[in-house]
Amino acid sequence: MGALIALRDVRKRFSLGEGEVEILRGIDLDVDEGEFIAIMGPSGSGKTTMLEILGALSRPSAGSYHFDGDAIESHDDDALADLRAARMGFVFQTFNLMPRMTAVRNAALPLLYAGAGRAEREARARGLLERLGLGHRLDHRPGQMSGGERQRVAIARALVNDPRVVLADEPTGNLDEKTGREILELFDDLHGGGRTLIVVTHAPEVAERAGRVIRIRDGRIESDAAA
Ligand SMILES: Nc1ncnc2c1ncn2[C@@H]1O[C@H](COP(=O)(O)OP(=O)(O)OP(=O)(O)O)[C@@H](O)[C@H]1O
Ligand SMILES: [Mg+2]
Repeated sequence: MGALIALRDVRKRFSLGEGEVEILRGIDLDVDEGEFIAIMGPSGSGKTTMLEILGALSRPSAGSYHFDGDAIESHDDDALADLRAARMGFVFQTFNLMPRMTAVRNAALPLLYAGAGRAEREARARGLLERLGLGHRLDHRPGQMSGGERQRVAIARALVNDPRVVLADEPTGNLDEKTGREILELFDDLHGGGRTLIVVTHAPEVAERAGRVIRIRDGRIESDAAA
């Protein structure tokens, strides 16, 4: 069995004015099924850019990405969207919630794309939101919730379709200590259940829970070590 995820010499360039900047500058990475990985590094080093590539939200400018043995480069946009919907749960740094939808409907959204019926969608979303301490905010819209509450809705949305890979960008950044601990316990459960977790974080307590810590600097992997 090969790695679940394999990146080879992955580069990401963005056009900027007349020229181009290379933000990821040759990333080689293998991730096995069931690993819990923390990605750390200074602001602007390319962590979110790398997570978006791992989550098949953006394509490398050069290099290869194999997921479960399949070359992602050869997938068209529909095939990438299917891969994301079936396999990936993504917690964005900016949460990306739908402003007009309640917490339950936001959290249930991936199940809508996956074709689940309404009762099942809402039951699963409600169960996760309750688990995340949001039982009293089920019918609130994002604008009626605090930053930490919105963050937990984003986490529920990422987990609602029981994805094989969970990618999270600073998931505990806006949370108080108690809620942050609950999220970490949830991650431990997911990891214990065989899910693969890749979490961008500045928090040492998140890195401590991960089996492996990857440090990024200036678009390259600076170190990759057992935690
Ligand atoms: N679409 C884009 N066009 C041009 N530059 C971009 C684009 N997206 C990201 N960048 C640049 O790439 C660099 C890395 O951004 P990225 O969001 O990956 O950093 P990060 O490591 O996640 O930082 P932070 O810890 O602040 O979230 C930044 O300098 C950013 O300005
Ligand atoms: Mg970022």
